[in-house]
Amino acid sequence: MHKIRRLDLNIAYACNLACKGCLSLSDFDRKGIMPFKDVVQSIDTWKDQITPDVLTMFGGEPLLHPKLFDIIDHAKSVWPQVTIRLITNGYLLHRFDPNVWFDFSPFEIQVSVHRLDHENIITKNILSIIKQKSDWSIVKTTDGSDGFHHMYEWQRPGMKIWKGKFGQFVIPYDQKDNKLVPFKSNPAKAHAICGNPNVPVMYKNKLYKCAPIANLLDLPNTKGFEYTPTDIQGNIAKFVNAIGKPENICSMCPESKTHSIDHYQKGEVHVKHLD
Ligand SMILES: C[S@@+](CC[C@H](N)C(=O)[O-])C[C@H]1O[C@@H](n2cnc3c(N)ncnc32)[C@H](O)[C@@H]1O
Ligand code: SF4
Repeated sequence: MHKIRRLDLNIAYACNLACKGCLSLSDFDRKGIMPFKDVVQSIDTWKDQITPDVLTMFGGEPLLHPKLFDIIDHAKSVWPQVTIRLITNGYLLHRFDPNVWFDFSPFEIQVSVHRLDHENIITKNILSIIKQKSDWSIVKTTDGSDGFHHMYEWQRPGMKIWKGKFGQFVIPYDQKDNKLVPFKSNPAKAHAICGNPNVPVMYKNKLYKCAPIANLLDLPNTKGFEYTPTDIQGNIAKFVNAIGKPENICSMCPESKTHSIDHYQKGEVHVKHLD
């Protein structure tokens, strides 16, 4: 059994937002969700080989999955010790009973703020959950001194909620002749500025080093990306050992921050559905 600190489970391709440079490529108007039976099959295929400390409900926008609660229940039945983390843009939280999240303890919600002019909408949705209990403490986890990345966290036994602000997006591909192509960077330099360098993704029953390569290989307009995901017959120890380290595939990403986007600049995030 291989222990993994965090594993992202991609359960939705679609998103209610389109953020330029999204590492799940959701700005390419991707549609749909991963069918529930396929998510269960993925979890069951891997349950005796890997055990994540934190399993993230990831996408796209995971709140668009109609069987989100069933997925969480299944994951917890298979890995009883796992902490489930929901990573969401937060707009659709108001569709859910604010009490429901307390059933999944230990449970965490990271609400990513994508537009500063909509932060009040997101905060209101978080506070509707917070209001259900009186035993929260509030922690300021970073001081925001970089001006881009700061978080405030609400904590109670078995639960945490925080707002994530990621003001700089590294675009994980280059573009030529209307195709997405690899940058052909130095892998170590690209890995050093990666926005998410330590988190493997479970995607369609296989393990990928990161969200961009998992999602990119599914798009029609790509050229020159060479990567073989790890399936259940593959060398799982080698895959796990490479987590958090640069590999050849990291050459697809830029090695310089000149290809980063100011995520909070006007026009970089298109909100398709507010509610
Ligand atoms: C891909 S999103 C998926 C979950 C959900 N839709 C959300 O926005 O939180 C997960 C996280 O990745 C961050 N992210 C997306 N693209 C990124 C990029 N190019 N560089 C750094 N962070 C990125 C987002 O800000 C978000 O916090
Ligand atoms: S909210 Fe933005 S970052 Fe999250 S999946 Fe959607 S497009 Fe990507």
